[in-house]
Amino acid sequence: MTKCLLPDAFTKDQTYTIIVLPFAGAPLEVFRVRKWTEAYDIFWQTANALKDAEQRLGFEHRDMHWGQILVSSTSAGRKRNDKEELKVTLIDFGLSRMDSMEGDTWWTAFEDEVFEGEGEYQFDIYRMMREHIEDGKGWETFEPRTNIMVNLFTIRCIIGFLTAPQWLHYLLRKLIKNKGLRAPSPVSASSSALVVRERKAYELVLGLEDRLGSSLHDLAAYPYRPRTKTKSRRKTVLLEAVGASSSRLTCAGDVVAFYQAI
Ligand SMILES: Nc1ncnc2c1ncn2[C@@H]1O[C@H](COP(=O)(O)OP(=O)(O)OP(=O)(O)O)[C@@H](O)[C@H]1O
Ligand SMILES: [Mg+2]
Repeated sequence: MTKCLLPDAFTKDQTYTIIVLPFAGAPLEVFRVRKWTEAYDIFWQTANALKDAEQRLGFEHRDMHWGQILVSSTSAGRKRNDKEELKVTLIDFGLSRMDSMEGDTWWTAFEDEVFEGEGEYQFDIYRMMREHIEDGKGWETFEPRTNIMVNLFTIRCIIGFLTAPQWLHYLLRKLIKNKGLRAPSPVSASSSALVVRERKAYELVLGLEDRLGSSLHDLAAYPYRPRTKTKSRRKTVLLEAVGASSSRLTCAGDVVAFYQAI
């Protein structure tokens, strides 16, 4: 969270840093998601980016609300069409955590006010992260340092709980509830390939949201209750396959592996 000072608070000797970044698109909060295949794509790119960063650097974003997920489209400036591709960029690592190349850990403590927000799932996530992280070995790291030659990340993922699943669950809920996407009609024998793809993407997004919600719910102090299936969520082979799995999803790598196995 940025603290904004009025410019007259600065003296003449004030120095500034200007950071120039390539334009990475619009925040998901305002980006128009038109189809379930786009929602699925945004989720999938985000999960994969987190997985790679987790595995390379023990990275956790820790503040991945939808203002920090930028989406750009290859049709920028022109009317969007079905051939366009979306590109997701995660920004603002102000509260993130990673292993440095020199064996240190880089992380930032959260200010207390971060945990006091109400009325948005995002604010529950900060509190849940605090539960998990403080139950473990603190904000810096989850596990004791080890000298043996094993991938530290793998150990963290197995014995610890990384915060990526919480933020990925948040992202799925935003895509399902806040982007104005309607349930596509069920597939029939005469459905076009486009309709089939759209329905499949819808089922995957909903199925994983449920699955991830259940996995998180198994952890103490998690307030989210997975929804029971409603009439609008017709059971399909795909949804049942997602729901039936009992694997624990404790890091973005787990989530990606789980999705690939469906
Ligand atoms: N590379 C980029 N391309 C396009 N827009 C960007 C880029 N980087 C940042 N922005 C825009 O600027 C906003 C603020 O950026 P960022 O989150 O990095 O700064 P911040 O100081 O942490 O702000 P906040 O406290 O609002 O999170 C983003 O939500 C986004 O709209
Ligand atoms: Mg920000």
